[in-house]
Amino acid sequence: MASQYHDVYAHWKDKPFEFWGEAAKAVDWIKAPQTVFDPNAGVYGRWFPDGTLNTCYNAIDRHVNNGRAEQAALIYDSPVTGIKRTYTYAELLAEVNAVAAVLKDFGVGKGDRVLAYMPMIPEAVIGVLACARIGAIHSVVFGGFAAKELATRINDSEPKVILTASCGIEPNRVVKYKPLLDEAISLAAVKPEKVLLLQRPQAVADMIPGRDFNWADLVVAAMAERRTVAPVEMKATDPLYILYTSGTTGIPKGVVRDNGGHAVAMMWTMKNLYGIEPGEVFWAASDVGWVVGHSYIIYAQLLYGATTVVYEGKPIGTPDAGAFWRMIEEYNIAALFTAPTAFRAVRKEDPNAEHLKRYNVKKSLRTLFLAGERADPDTVAWAEQILGVPVIDHWWQTETGWAIAGNPIGLGALPVKHGSPTVAMPGYDVQIVDEACHPVPAGKMGSIVVKLPLPPGNLPTLWQQDERMKESYLTDFPGFYKTADAGFIDEEGYLYIMGRTDDIINVAGHRLSTGGMEEVLASHPDVAECAVIGVKDELKGEQPCGFIVLKSGVSRSPMDIEQEIVKLVRDKIGPVAAFKIAITVNRLPKTRSGKILRGTMKKIADHDPWTMPATIDDPAIMDEIMAALENKGV
Ligand code: COA
Ligand code: AMP
Repeated sequence: MASQYHDVYAHWKDKPFEFWGEAAKAVDWIKAPQTVFDPNAGVYGRWFPDGTLNTCYNAIDRHVNNGRAEQAALIYDSPVTGIKRTYTYAELLAEVNAVAAVLKDFGVGKGDRVLAYMPMIPEAVIGVLACARIGAIHSVVFGGFAAKELATRINDSEPKVILTASCGIEPNRVVKYKPLLDEAISLAAVKPEKVLLLQRPQAVADMIPGRDFNWADLVVAAMAERRTVAPVEMKATDPLYILYTSGTTGIPKGVVRDNGGHAVAMMWTMKNLYGIEPGEVFWAASDVGWVVGHSYIIYAQLLYGATTVVYEGKPIGTPDAGAFWRMIEEYNIAALFTAPTAFRAVRKEDPNAEHLKRYNVKKSLRTLFLAGERADPDTVAWAEQILGVPVIDHWWQTETGWAIAGNPIGLGALPVKHGSPTVAMPGYDVQIVDEACHPVPAGKMGSIVVKLPLPPGNLPTLWQQDERMKESYLTDFPGFYKTADAGFIDEEGYLYIMGRTDDIINVAGHRLSTGGMEEVLASHPDVAECAVIGVKDELKGEQPCGFIVLKSGVSRSPMDIEQEIVKLVRDKIGPVAAFKIAITVNRLPKTRSGKILRGTMKKIADHDPWTMPATIDDPAIMDEIMAALENKGV
């Protein structure tokens, strides 16, 4: 079948408001929007400003009412605990109603913030859907972040209540959440009134009387009483959630997602981009703490009447590199979505895909989707070869909430070009520009920008920071959204994403700020100066590497200090930073105006070709950097 993509994209470009007005019909509105887009509202305009709806109602109730009550809504599979459970839409509704009732008893209402610090368990999804039901704004924090990062997010979002569990389970250890949460609350200037905690047998948490409440006790009681809570009418433009993501400093950006545009965009993608039908199983092997988890573990499948999967495990080691294949066979998964790093991990462990022979994935799997980092052609080719299904790279960001570019399976796939996430999705006018915001010719690298307005589902602003929203994204290229990615578009309109233009690095599909890490390194009492760069890593794509210059007069062993630095980053940012390499040097290479030459240091560490920058203060320092890297085996 010839792809309808070009016609659909042209129609969107010609009549964008008609296009999104049509897409909006997939939502059960309380008041259907009369205006599709108001260019004068908000920072760059607002979608569906006079529409009202409830996202939770759209994700659950309407399916229960329309014949899907007994269909699987959520599959939980936890190889780390041995638990498996499937929730029908009716069961999910009962659970969500119960948590919503408990939150209401806690005094949580429309517009209040609720922070969720949860492992990959169904209660994470249930908890945030309960927030959506009562109009509370949820903010999920990834479990791999440390107390300080959690405290920053508590301070910024000012949650009334925190939802948590006693622990998360990593293959090599039990991660006790409660001590981290207690420390975060003591560090934070803003104190939540209550904590609702799910006790897990792997690490039972101590409770603070009057503040901490046992999830099971309260929710089971609410379930026993069959309590229900009516979904609250929300404006399309009311925030549904805040999700923090790395900015160029240690203070993360609170990306806001609104209710209406989000629901419209999520449903549009399920059919047109992912080619999924209601009732099918679509598994995003990510974490609820990331944007992929928000969009494609919590919301899109449910809004669309499909089945979602909460997997508490890893691609390898739980128990082996056949984990993905087992899941696909066991649950008839139609499409799998994961990060390239997960496939690199599987390939490293099982290069000939021996584990795949034990499972029949062909009976259900139609497509593999990759995102979160650049999909290297080698990994894509390997995945295509072992699975025999299309492998689709697509490119997006926490800010956008859904793919900016992809290969729209539902509209008819375009030919795949390895190394490219294919083409701009309807809604996105993607352009490549130079520093003066002039378009560059096909094939030439430049900054990737998107013409305003951004489509529904994208961030309308940063939480309580309209000015930061403007400065971060809308000022450098007037009239455009700055993606902070660099790349090019080829003669056929295929987009290539080559890297970031800021200090963000991508470690195992996780977005991290080197600036944030530098703040931690600089806080060590013996460190005078530092620089953190991302260096190429076969498995994780990139890994952070920190250079430190010690204060004069420090006589302690550099090796001890380097170990302390590694521990400091783990304690302050969290294990997810995967910061393992600290290198002591005598000096850092700088320009004559004092700017650290991180770009050149990265090229050297990556063994890429490099030239001596003309502006370097002292070329001899580059030899010292090379020797230091060699010493550490980088
Ligand atoms: N809670 C607590 N700690 C966590 C955690 C969580 N939710 N998630 C990860 N960590 C820890 C890990 O245990 C690890 O700790 P360690 O240093 O003690 O080993 C550290 O954070 C780094 O984790 P990660 O970078 O994920 O490496 P890994 O070696 O555990 O796993 C992969 C490697 C490739 C298997 C894994 O990164 C993966 O599956 N990635 C998929 C990426 C993804 O889902 N991206 C989301 C966007 S699609
Ligand atoms: P996050 O906000 O955590 O989803 O990270 C977004 C960033 O990850 C993007 O700005 C890109 O730098 C990178 N990224 C995500 N998907 C891709 C992809 N398919 N190809 C290349 N880079 C990607």
